[in-house]
Amino acid sequence: MKCVNDFRLQLGKRELVPVVVGGMGVDISRAELALEAARLGGIGHISDAMVPTVSDRRFQTRFVSEKAKLYKYNAANSDKSKVLFDLGRLAEATHNHVGRTMEAKRGEGLIFINCMEKLTMNAPRETLRVRLTSALDAGIDGITLSAGLHLGSFALMESHPRFRDAKLGIIVSSLRALQIFLRKNARLNRLPDFVVVEGPLAGGHLGFGMDWAEYDLRTIVAEIQQYLAAEKLDIPLIPAGGIFTGSDAVSYLENGAAAVQVATRFTATHECGLPDKVKQEYLKASEDEIEVNLISPTGYPMRMLKGSPAIGAGIRPNCEAYGYLLDGTGNCSYITAYNREVEAHPDAKKLSVMDKTCLCTHMRNFDCWTCGHYTYRLKDTTRRLGDGTYQLLTAEHVFRDYQFSTDNKIALPPEPQ
Ligand SMILES: Cc1cc2nc3c(=O)[nH]c(=O)nc-3n(C[C@H](O)[C@H](O)[C@H](O)COP(=O)(O)O)c2cc1C
Repeated sequence: MKCVNDFRLQLGKRELVPVVVGGMGVDISRAELALEAARLGGIGHISDAMVPTVSDRRFQTRFVSEKAKLYKYNAANSDKSKVLFDLGRLAEATHNHVGRTMEAKRGEGLIFINCMEKLTMNAPRETLRVRLTSALDAGIDGITLSAGLHLGSFALMESHPRFRDAKLGIIVSSLRALQIFLRKNARLNRLPDFVVVEGPLAGGHLGFGMDWAEYDLRTIVAEIQQYLAAEKLDIPLIPAGGIFTGSDAVSYLENGAAAVQVATRFTATHECGLPDKVKQEYLKASEDEIEVNLISPTGYPMRMLKGSPAIGAGIRPNCEAYGYLLDGTGNCSYITAYNREVEAHPDAKKLSVMDKTCLCTHMRNFDCWTCGHYTYRLKDTTRRLGDGTYQLLTAEHVFRDYQFSTDNKIALPPEPQ
């Protein structure tokens, strides 16, 4: 019986363990987690979501307070069009985050950064260009373009000296999205080095509508495989979403996938950036405590625990400090929803906004508990301790379980001493 370790992901000259730990913003897939995946010979992702905030927390920089101070005069104004990121400071923050992670890298694996196009930051093209090129400057091994169509993102990096040597890939949820991407980028004469095919059971934002349950990862992967074969395009495919055991992974690898991308199982590890208390919420969740809703201002459905403090919270938008979801004209659908509630309840001390959430503040504070569909199975991957909590795992334990397990088995961690 085969295990994941019987396969290898060939990326250029590199041979890797075909396990990719997916990007989880904001800093849920922390550098420590990505570094473990790379040390063990696979691929780990850091995330480029809210990097100035992440840099402040990790390296005691002051990017957020500086920006908040600069735009303090605008805090009560619902027009946020003047609240712009300083591109130099954004590059510096990306340099800190990526550069220090790459300096700490050990082993044969790779570190990629997950870059979400939907973080429009009140100047979509300019900020995206800076995020992409400064990650390349700082030595990132590769970039995975996610959450959005990214039709112009390759062109934004075109003149960078590493454009043809760094590994650049894209996440799609349909053959159509891939076809559009390939068509729009044909003139660059540079195919993606890999394509992550993300199905409807993934965590974070979904590339489907609220009819997500009608789609199935295996069918989408098969369609894309057929298309690539017919077009004689040799691009490694990496399925993602709901691959919970080593055997799940093997079934994709045996059918021609180059690797698998996984995330949910790593949310229960020490190295994951979620606070330990939140990890326990994930571990104890039951299936009916998980929902897909439309509260993200990006407009994409998002999967999360129903108990997330972000749901229904009515905090004042904090775009002067953050502002990552402002579109190119200074709007965010949370601001609109918030203002509507303020108008409807002018005397209320505490507001509730049900239809949208302030994703920046809540993701930053780990109060939006986005998760994969199989989060309710996490409790079967570990032990319940005497005090009723669950034992956290090491990333190495989970990675090796994917790598070596057979027969749909999940290895429990050694008993705590
Ligand atoms: C907590 C969490 C946060 C995530 N955040 C992001 C993200 O910021 N960007 C992204 O492209 N994918 C994100 N994802 C999706 C993962 O990278 C991955 O593709 C997917 O969840 C794999 O499926 P699995 O969780 O069932 O293993 C997230 C997933 C989880 C569980």
